[in-house]
Amino acid sequence: SIATAADQLILAGQLLDVQSGELKSNQAILVADQRIVNILPVRQLSAEQRSIPTLDLSGYTVLPGLIDMHVHLTSNPQQHGYRRLNSTPARQAIFGVTAAEVTLKAGFTSVRNVGAAGFADVDLRNAIDEGEIQGPRMRVAGHSICITGGHCDNNLLPHTYAARGFGVANSPDEVRTRVRENMKYGANLIKFTATGGVLSRNTDVNASQFSLAEMQALVAEAHDRGAKVAAHAHGLHGMKRAIEAGVDSIEHASFLNDEVLAMAAERGTYLVMDIYVSDFILGEGEAAGILPESLEKERQVGQLQRENFRRAVAAGVKMAYGTDAGVYTHGQNGRQFAYMVDWGMTPLQAIQSATLHAATLLDWRNEQGQLNVGLLEPGAYADMVAVEGNPLQNIRLLEAIPIVVKGGQRVK
Ligand code: ARG
Repeated sequence: SIATAADQLILAGQLLDVQSGELKSNQAILVADQRIVNILPVRQLSAEQRSIPTLDLSGYTVLPGLIDMHVHLTSNPQQHGYRRLNSTPARQAIFGVTAAEVTLKAGFTSVRNVGAAGFADVDLRNAIDEGEIQGPRMRVAGHSICITGGHCDNNLLPHTYAARGFGVANSPDEVRTRVRENMKYGANLIKFTATGGVLSRNTDVNASQFSLAEMQALVAEAHDRGAKVAAHAHGLHGMKRAIEAGVDSIEHASFLNDEVLAMAAERGTYLVMDIYVSDFILGEGEAAGILPESLEKERQVGQLQRENFRRAVAAGVKMAYGTDAGVYTHGQNGRQFAYMVDWGMTPLQAIQSATLHAATLLDWRNEQGQLNVGLLEPGAYADMVAVEGNPLQNIRLLEAIPIVVKGGQRVK
């Protein structure tokens, strides 16, 4: 039977059901081969089940492992602007080894890596999956796709140096080629930039990048290959165009308005709003090499993005947790929870954004069609975190998580 096949027993003092928000006391989680096979009250365990190797978390509140939908594990947050010219994709992959472990130990058992140079994120994911290094389960985008001079291009040097980003494309056909290349070399997610960005040189956060036809070609190609599409967008028009083209999520969504919210609601588009990172950029960014023009752009984006986050929460659109860690310190992914609560979410909504809703956007499912991550129920991976106290009462407990379990194994 399923129960006797279990190889691991985890006892939870309190177990948070992220669908209902209910806390259930004294629950036993039976695990076999990394996955949950059964959850039942401790008092119903058989003598045989009680003899399985046990992780006793009866003094803790247990919830699903957290998911960050927007990280750059291969980015060093102390190397912004021109400093980044010094590192190769190989160097960035080596940096990512530590970042991956730190991120996992912060309680983030799954992440989407939304862009890396030279497919360093593919190698990082493979090394984790092959058990060589410790890190979260990863969806990876490989090369972020953008127009010449766009947010993912290298705009730091004059023409003489012929510097360019890996993911540059300038027509529907070129966009398809970039998507196909990304998939060929191991990406399982597509990221493109629909507007300028804060941290890129000489791009305008309000200016759209890519035509509707280019975006439509990109989305069609990605969806044909079973990859979700994440669109970076601050400005209104780029955001609208990307939603119209059928992207799965808008990243940043800084200058959204009611029309965007109505479109997102109608299309089921997720918003992934990184409302913590502004504190790092404006507080520590200059020392980390961020360009003066980027600091100026951040002053136009940060506060407004938080106000618009509140509007989005009030409108009830789908939202998933994403931080842009890598721009700021890895392992501090949990700091955004308190900001989301300050800007309009309940603690349960903030937790759902980083579990159930993030997992639904990932749409990563087992053979039975159930979500693999983001909730604790039979069929899902036994990925969980444990905190001392009730995160529904004190969301800041998620900033310093003492116990992390991935696939039934305690990793912290
Ligand atoms: N990677 C993003 C960009 O360069 C970071 C934006 C951060 N700012 C913010 N308020 N979310 O555009």
